[in-house]
Amino acid sequence: MDDPRGRLTKDGIRIYEASDFEGMRVAGRLAAEILDAVAVLVEPGVSTGSIDAFIEEKVNAAGAKSATIGYRGYQHASCISVNHVVCHGIPGPKLLKDGDILNIDVTVIVDGWYGDSSRMYVAGAMNRKAERLVQVTHDALMLGIEAVKPGNTFGDIGHAIQSYVEAQRMSVVRDFCGHGLGRVFHAPPNVLHYGRARSGAVLEEGMFFTIEPMVNLGRPETKVLADDWTAVTRDKSLSAQFEHSVGVTADGCEIFTLSPAGRFHPTR
Ligand code: MF3
Ligand code: CO
Ligand code: CO
Repeated sequence: MDDPRGRLTKDGIRIYEASDFEGMRVAGRLAAEILDAVAVLVEPGVSTGSIDAFIEEKVNAAGAKSATIGYRGYQHASCISVNHVVCHGIPGPKLLKDGDILNIDVTVIVDGWYGDSSRMYVAGAMNRKAERLVQVTHDALMLGIEAVKPGNTFGDIGHAIQSYVEAQRMSVVRDFCGHGLGRVFHAPPNVLHYGRARSGAVLEEGMFFTIEPMVNLGRPETKVLADDWTAVTRDKSLSAQFEHSVGVTADGCEIFTLSPAGRFHPTR
């Protein structure tokens, strides 16, 4: 879609205006509110399809649009990725079991602005390994976000995430990345969750993008199932992901998708 706002950098990354932050705030807040609200539903015996139906209702009730319904043929208001599913899990009749960990990813469009966020949840009680994976993944996202400020590079973000995750003896998925967003869902740049410090495009005030690291307990390789969406770890190891939409400010960044309820992780 054409987006005439602001200007493009030499790397093709759009620089938005100060007045554009408010639109992202509103869209991001709705995505975060929905991720707060869905927490009470996540229990053993509940289907991922029923969680998705609740999310679709919330999007509609807010007068917003789901960015994922109709996106490249996708038909749901969320992606729900359980256990060894890395991302793009399709909601359906499958029931959650005690101890399942799941990522719920919601993208909404409010007045043309995109809010994209995901968090981890647990059905019932989480085992120690899963708990550590979820904690490390959330910490990795927040370390990536701490690297967001003008003058730093996208490589600094990836490096912060990768070096931390690998020091915990876990692995960063290479096959999926974060992305620019704003008046569009997926725009340049690809925001890699691994890389070398001081490499890549330089961050500038007014860039909007997601950071959404996927971390595996085992090896980083993934494969996509025959449904053409569901990505799983090749070694069947457990995987986790958190995602925020952020905007670069003069001295750091604003997180558009923080939980208004101050909910931490996994969201309960
Ligand atoms: N929300 C996902 C992201 O973080 C994209 C999902 S696309 C879908 O970029 F079609 F699978 F929903
Ligand atoms: Co995203
Ligand atoms: Co997302």
